[in-house]
Amino acid sequence: MAERETWTTRVGFIFAAVGSAVGLGNIWSFPFQTGSNGGAAFLVVYLAIVFLFGFPAMLMEFVIGRRSKQNPISAFRELGFGNWSFAGALGVIGSVVTLAFYSVIGGWVLSYIAGSATGAYFGEAGTFFESVSAGPLAVGTHAVFMAVTVAIVAFGVQSGIERATKVMIPAILVLLLGLAVWGFTLDGAAAGYEYYLSPDFQYLSENIATIVPSAVGQAFFTLSLGFSVMIAYASYLGRDDSLPADGGAIVVINTLVALLAGFVVFPVLFAIGVEPGSGGVGTAFVSLAGAFGQLPGGALLGAAFFFVLLLAALSSAISLLETPTSYVVDNYDYSRRTVATGLGAAIFALGVPTALDTGTLGWYNDVVFSFLLPFVVLLFALFVGWVAFDSASEELGMGTSLGGGFVTLWLWWVRVVIPVGIGLTLVLGIQDLLIKAQILESAVILA
Ligand code: TRP
Repeated sequence: MAERETWTTRVGFIFAAVGSAVGLGNIWSFPFQTGSNGGAAFLVVYLAIVFLFGFPAMLMEFVIGRRSKQNPISAFRELGFGNWSFAGALGVIGSVVTLAFYSVIGGWVLSYIAGSATGAYFGEAGTFFESVSAGPLAVGTHAVFMAVTVAIVAFGVQSGIERATKVMIPAILVLLLGLAVWGFTLDGAAAGYEYYLSPDFQYLSENIATIVPSAVGQAFFTLSLGFSVMIAYASYLGRDDSLPADGGAIVVINTLVALLAGFVVFPVLFAIGVEPGSGGVGTAFVSLAGAFGQLPGGALLGAAFFFVLLLAALSSAISLLETPTSYVVDNYDYSRRTVATGLGAAIFALGVPTALDTGTLGWYNDVVFSFLLPFVVLLFALFVGWVAFDSASEELGMGTSLGGGFVTLWLWWVRVVIPVGIGLTLVLGIQDLLIKAQILESAVILA
């Protein structure tokens, strides 16, 4: 078995974790979830959930990872009484399923970069989406995206993941900031900001039952929780780091990126009078690309936007591949390169059906958001709160100056508040899945 790597610096860890967190979830999914759930009304709930549920849940994964210094499956065996490794295994399966369709969307983004440069989607955004989203071209771009992901993971934690994300994150921030400034100059800016930032409380109270589950799914997804990524990343971390401080920094930066993305997307949509509530995996690409196609300078700015999306998607895909890779590398005598390549090929195959049919992709997406993600986080909370709580509390206290009061508060939060909150969300989420199953027409997903 190879010697386990560690992050070269604390900042290296933060960049890698931010790289995992910042992805399609922030720049593509967040603005459209916000748009289809009433704008600012959703934003308020979402922010509350990120800080009240997301942050403590991230600490659970950090604690499991750093305490055990193991991959996400062995970690549970190391810390638990009885065998809880199924929880970690389910998380790893979640990573694999997510990466399968995530990479397909990454492939779409590649096509959109090309399409911006050539103006291919200008004036006919819908047709363009159909031609790149499902079929041989989508399978091809999915393969390219996956190959790049494999190449980075194959280089390992320090020279692959750490080095790549250190360049990607600043690039994402600078480009998004530039695009947001441009958004400010558009005619739709005022209306866009109004929709985005001033909550309609009546809408909120009438739609709370759909807003909350969407916000929980979105919060967990954007913070890369549930699928053991943060367990894997924290397992390469030293004991003198403050987990709450690192987690806080990651949550704040991730939230800022999502907020910034909204400052780009809403002015753009309002500038050409597109209804921001058009939901679904496909419509988001269609309406946004359509808007870029109609704005002056849209070719260049569209290309910049989709390039940001590509960087963000890649740095997240890396983390999704790292989780299963670390498990195999820890347990079997294969080189990291072989493992990353083999897993990449298998996950590519798993994603092919979603590259042939956007309806199937919508299903992978819904199952992950509404069920798998909250369910695994619930298992982690039960494990940390009720099984491994002694070592978990001790570990959280290491490297931080926040005293025992913080640790105790956190523990009870993990024991009670998180399970109850997720339990309720799961009921609503499963209900939603069943309703969707009854009206199963791909038209619903594609609109
Ligand atoms: N957080 C990423 C995004 O917002 C996606 C992601 C990467 C993820 N790793 C994850 C989601 C692990 C859940 C679990 O796009």
